[in-house]
Amino acid sequence: DPREVNVVDGPVPKHRQLRQILLAMVEGELVPDAPIPSERELVTRFGVSRATVREAVGRLVAEGRLYRVRGKGTFVAAPKVESQMHLASFTEDMRRRGHKPSTVVLGADETVAPPPARAALGIDVTDRAFRVERLRSADGAPMAHEVSWLPAAPLPGMLERDLTSSIYSILAHDYGRVLDSAAQTVWAEGADPLRARLLRVPPAAPLLVFRKTSYAAGRPLEHVTSWYRADRYQVHMTLDSAL
Ligand code: GLP
Repeated sequence: DPREVNVVDGPVPKHRQLRQILLAMVEGELVPDAPIPSERELVTRFGVSRATVREAVGRLVAEGRLYRVRGKGTFVAAPKVESQMHLASFTEDMRRRGHKPSTVVLGADETVAPPPARAALGIDVTDRAFRVERLRSADGAPMAHEVSWLPAAPLPGMLERDLTSSIYSILAHDYGRVLDSAAQTVWAEGADPLRARLLRVPPAAPLLVFRKTSYAAGRPLEHVTSWYRADRYQVHMTLDSAL
């Protein structure tokens, strides 16, 4: 919580510490176009000089994370396309990149999840889970093959929903569960013959694999593996110093 973090004396310049705190606010509680606290408030809250505040804010403006409006203040900039890794749904991710998403449901069952998915979702062998397998396309051409596991108990009737639409929207709108954090691992793989056929690439073509467990209010709600065509998909991330 950035409100509990403070600027301290030490080897790390204060403007860098403050930049880091402001960045956490921008990525956390503040939404695009929200004002950041005024220069005076920052001076008081963090016990730093005006010069320090100006330096920290100025850097974030230069980096495109904040923008200034004359006579009004400093505001949070909308994230740039591809500039960060977000906890975004496929639907949202494609739209942001300027592509039209579409989906074919290859399978949707209520079953027993395999041990890794059970462990990730924190469910038992006696608990039911949904397995949703989908082919995701962008502008009509295959982009990713996706296998999602979701716990059945908190999501009654999930399989009757339109699974060609966004699962994240269904979770939010029909179940009031907004995914707010995730742990993700990325690696590379050559397409096996089945996936090559689905994604319409040559066998062994490079794929980027994303395996993710996503949480809503601390509770795991999906464990998903997505195989993206590496010729069509890349991710960018901005990296901050460890501080
Ligand atoms: C991306 C993620 C998947 C997630 C999916 C949900 O593809 N890599 O982990 O399951 O989005 O997308 P949607 O909400 O469009 O169904």
